[in-house]
Amino acid sequence: MGTVVIFGATGLLGSSLCPYLADSGFEVIQAGRDPSSNRILDVTDSSAIADLFRATAPSYVINLVAATDVDRCESDVKYAYLANTKVPGAIAAAMDTCGHFDIHAVHISTDQVYAGPGTHSEGNINPINVYGLSKYAGELLVAAKTTAILRTNFYGRSKLPNRKSFSDWLVTALKKREAITLFEDVLFSALNIQTLCDLVLDVMKQRVTGTFNVGCANGISKAEFAIQLASRLGLSTENAKVGRLADLALKAKRPTDMTLDVRKFESAMNLRCPDIFDQISLTAEEYSDE
Ligand SMILES: NC(=O)c1ccc[n+]([C@@H]2O[C@H](COP(=O)([O-])OP(=O)(O)OC[C@H]3O[C@@H](n4cnc5c(N)ncnc54)[C@H](OP(=O)(O)O)[C@@H]3O)[C@@H](O)[C@H]2O)c1
Repeated sequence: MGTVVIFGATGLLGSSLCPYLADSGFEVIQAGRDPSSNRILDVTDSSAIADLFRATAPSYVINLVAATDVDRCESDVKYAYLANTKVPGAIAAAMDTCGHFDIHAVHISTDQVYAGPGTHSEGNINPINVYGLSKYAGELLVAAKTTAILRTNFYGRSKLPNRKSFSDWLVTALKKREAITLFEDVLFSALNIQTLCDLVLDVMKQRVTGTFNVGCANGISKAEFAIQLASRLGLSTENAKVGRLADLALKAKRPTDMTLDVRKFESAMNLRCPDIFDQISLTAEEYSDE
């Protein structure tokens, strides 16, 4: 299947995507600052990245590097800029330098480039926090390359002990019968991580380029998502109250409607995006043996 260099492999998505692609027959090279990386390098340094490309001649590159602490991004703009903007810029510059390798890149972005009422099509950009703005700025730097920019969101069982997904947090809280608030005013159309891995592989195989929303064909509130997941797992929601994000004073503003219009992706890939209720069932299966 060829060689794929993955930046940000040590994160939530990378820890699922790397073994998945290795099992699919790729030679996976994990590049980053973490000692567990196959290649340790400064991912903001385009010359170091170009050297890596020359040494490994990848057919594919995937960028998962991100500063994902949305509240920290708001007060520490350098943290947001380095990971969300400078890194994609460095990867794009290295791809230019090594243009003769014909590298196809997948750059993962976020549904937080949108705000206001959904469903959002790709042109409806309106980031309302530093995280979303820095991610969008990163997109602009890779947009002209042979790159697929996938705006997405995901949940599912994490393979990392120290990095929890939304569903990990939810299932743990429900099992411990903790008092939690489920937001009825936050809408999303996020995917299960495994489904996202399948779709990333499809994008690589078809070498699709452009900017795409990648999510479910329909959306749901986070409160309804939680109730549906709890019901499939036989967990009580008696200690969970339904509330509104709008009533919280968070450091960073959050978009409340992140539902994605996925028709451009469906058309480019010639597929149907999944139904959110099927994704919840798939996610429940991941936690059923806990
Ligand atoms: N998690 C979500 O719910 C979610 C939702 C929507 C979109 N996304 C997008 O999906 C992608 C993957 O997210 P994720 O949740 O897997 O992220 P994550 O768990 O926070 O992992 C981030 C990765 O980026 C690396 N990284 C961060 N800053 C770095 C820096 N300055 N220099 C070098 N490496 C750096 C980390 O490396 P270290 O291990 O060395 O720190 C780690 O490998 C991102 O593009 C994110 O914006 C995520």
